[in-house]
Amino acid sequence: MGGDCRPHRGTSRGRATKTQAARGGDRAPISAPRRLDRGFRGRGREVYGGPVTDEQRPYGGGTSDPALKRVRTRHFQRAKEQGIKITGLTSYDYLSASIFDEAGIDFLLVGDSAGNTVFGYDTTIPVTVDQLIPLTAAVVRGASRALVIADMPFGSYENGPDEALRTALRFMKETGAQAVKLEGGVRSAPQITRIVSAGIPVMGHIGFTPQSEHGLGGHIIQGRGEGAQQLLADAHAVEEAGAFAVVMEMVPSEIAGQVTEELSIPTISVGAGPHCDGQLLVWSDWAGFTRGRIPRFVKQYAQIADALLDAANAFREEVESGVYPAPEHEYSE
Ligand code: KIV
Repeated sequence: MGGDCRPHRGTSRGRATKTQAARGGDRAPISAPRRLDRGFRGRGREVYGGPVTDEQRPYGGGTSDPALKRVRTRHFQRAKEQGIKITGLTSYDYLSASIFDEAGIDFLLVGDSAGNTVFGYDTTIPVTVDQLIPLTAAVVRGASRALVIADMPFGSYENGPDEALRTALRFMKETGAQAVKLEGGVRSAPQITRIVSAGIPVMGHIGFTPQSEHGLGGHIIQGRGEGAQQLLADAHAVEEAGAFAVVMEMVPSEIAGQVTEELSIPTISVGAGPHCDGQLLVWSDWAGFTRGRIPRFVKQYAQIADALLDAANAFREEVESGVYPAPEHEYSE
């Protein structure tokens, strides 16, 4: 994580100054890179400049440990107010979710990018709710701290607010996810309003929206030139509809910074530069699992595909040559 690169102009300067004052003049400057909830598993906890309040399940049951520590949507808001960067990764299974959760990644998005990464489609368009529900439930089982967000796939909310709420209810009841995400700004505002009014947190998604790839004419950067006005309108519509955060995908950094300044809810960048309140990446791109073309905005933090290829080659060679299994891999009578 880098420091806070949010442009210091206009209203954000006022916000930063006020927040710094509230935190005390001798405290670290707001630009100090800090994590949203440092040391969840007992390592020097610090959440947004204050102690974590252990949360009880209001109706009990489900676990013998009554003290649940979980990233909540309200923590996103506090992170923005205090200049703490929010981190997110996609996840589609139990094992990756438990690793990202242990690393303190703040939210896990069970993205419809599963269409590409799990199911092997060319786009996210064919993905269905029935395909995403078991993946989302698996991620929920792997995450004890991170907020798990279910992505609503193409065709599951466009028909209007009633359909959108039905889909959101399915994700909440059948997976245990704590929030949903859907694409679209102005055009999806009525759907967001309806879902939020039912008590379900919604993350918006504007800029490049992959489900509209054909309508947008391909993988095209959004918010450039005259597109900036549409991006701003979409961002404000999502906020006014009640979303707790908004993803901006493939948007120039400058306009993403302006949106971040103008909105009171956190902005999450997927290729929208450093001025946003948080960063999200598709985990297979980020970990070097995806083979082939990777978007310019992705930084690869590992080379999983190479490691797996090497391991699979070594396994094949050792089986073929009789090196594996060795005596230590055998059971005796
Ligand atoms: O499906 C997904 O992974 C997403 C992110 C890229 C924002 O929507």
